[in-house]
This record gives sequence, structure tokens and C-alpha cells, in this order.
Amino acid sequence: MRLDGYAGRRRLGLSDLRRFESESLFDRSARVVCGAQCVAKKELYENWACAAAIHEHFFSRAMAPRVVVDVCGGHGLLGWFLLVMTSQTRCFAVDPRIPKSAATLRDAFGREWPGLGSRHRYLEARAEDLSLGPHALVVALHACGGLTDDVLLAAVDGRAHAAVVPCCHSLRGYRLPVRVDRLDDIDRTRCAFMTDHGYDVVSHFLPAHLTPKNQVLFAARPFSNGLSHDDDDDVGLPLRSPLREALGPARLPSLAWSRWR
Ligand SMILES: C[S@@+](CC[C@H](N)C(=O)[O-])C[C@H]1O[C@@H](n2cnc3c(N)ncnc32)[C@H](O)[C@@H]1O
Repeated sequence: MRLDGYAGRRRLGLSDLRRFESESLFDRSARVVCGAQCVAKKELYENWACAAAIHEHFFSRAMAPRVVVDVCGGHGLLGWFLLVMTSQTRCFAVDPRIPKSAATLRDAFGREWPGLGSRHRYLEARAEDLSLGPHALVVALHACGGLTDDVLLAAVDGRAHAAVVPCCHSLRGYRLPVRVDRLDDIDRTRCAFMTDHGYDVVSHFLPAHLTPKNQVLFAARPFSNGLSHDDDDDVGLPLRSPLREALGPARLPSLAWSRWR
């Protein structure tokens, strides 16, 4: 099944429901997506593959991330899939332009899994404005050019975990404070940068027939700095700058979650 042509760009709809008949988590999620009628076939498969890889890498740990921040997520499918795969996690889908289809997806997932919506928030914001904490996992699928760097810098700044799938590599867009002269060196330098900042870095590849830009960089923060489950207040909270100013300190206590209900 190749998904990089017309077939992959075709929007899934009600006529596709019959392809996903089982009660597996994937088929149930795919039926939600078909019912929403706003997601391309390619997106379904690449977001699911990415979510499954992220889940395997980060959520089998003793201290799984509490908050997923899905950056440059558009309508946020990756975040919804990660919520479906986990039971406690909350998710922020962050994008400066949240499309109308986001509300359609939220309603569709909420119908299938009542309660899921209370764990999810859309936030119109830019990657550069993120404020993360050590219990957060920031994820970005196809973060164009320097956006990948903004996401990694936000992770380092907040001691958060990161999982990024870079795309649209360019030397002009590249933004890490380490010199790079060749396009081919960008991702290697990103890995070295995260390693230098104390992260365990692993490269993973999504199936190439789903997406040509298929390298996932996992950067996990080892929990060796006295961080414990009691650090409830330090999940971090992505806020737009004006909101951050209005609400005071960037790292709000977990109670602040209620502001987003
Ligand atoms: C190539 S799309 C990726 C969408 C989705 N993750 C996917 O793989 O289908 C890039 C997304 O980045 C968003 N974006 C652009 N500038 C951004 C910024 N400064 N911070 C966060 N997201 C941004 C765009 O609005 C767009 O939704």
C-alpha cells in the first residue's frame, strides 16, 4: 500500500467505514476518523504509526509523561491517537492556525470515547512560545525546517521529553546554536545537541511507504535528577505570550488545568 500519491491524499469518509470493522483500537480510531470526514488516508496511517512508535518509546517507562504537547499538529490527530493509547495523559494540540476540522475531530473522538475531550485542549500558539516542564512530552510530526529546532529548544528549556519527525530541511531555516554546513548534517547535529544536553537520543524510522520524511528523533530525559511523581506541579503549560503575561508565572500548578475546561 503506497500512500504518497492521489490515493493517500483522498479524504476518508463514510464509505471507508467498512474497511475498519474490528474492535481493535486502530479500527475504532479509524472509524472515528472516517466519520469525521476531514482526514486524508495518508494522515491516518502516518499519525497512527508515529503515535504507536512514541507510545512504545515513552509510555512503557515507569514514569510515563503526563502531558503530551502536540506541536504543529494542525487538527491534532497525533495527540488524539496518543490519548486513545493512554489512560491518564492529557494533551495540548498547539498550532498558530487551528483549522475548523479540529472541532469536528474533537466531537468525533468525544462521541466514541466520552471523557476523552476533558483530557484535550487546542491552543493557538507557536512553538517558540511553549513553556514546558519535565513531565511533558513534546511531539511534532513533520515540523517544517527550523520548527523542529524550536521544538527541541523548548524541550531542553523545560527539561521535557521530545519526539520529532523533521521535514523540509534547509540551512536557512535551521536554528540550533551549533554550526552546520551541510544539509545532510542537520539531523545528526540535532541528535548531538540533545545528547549534549543530557538526553538519551534514539532514531526510529516509520515505514517509508507511509511517508518519505520518516525519521523520528526520540529524545528522552533520564529521570535521575531527583524528579519524582510528587512533582505534580511541574508539568509545565504551553501558553501564548499574552496569556502567559495575563496569568502570571509560566509554570502554573496542575490546578490551572481547570482554566482550560
Ligand atoms: C507540515 S504541517 C504538519 C501538520 C501535521 N503535523 C502533519 O504531519 O500532517 C505544519 C504545521 O505547522 C504549523 N506551524 C507553522 N508555524 C508554526 C509555529 N511557529 N509553531 C507551531 N506550528 C506552526 C502549521 O500551521 C501547520 O499546521
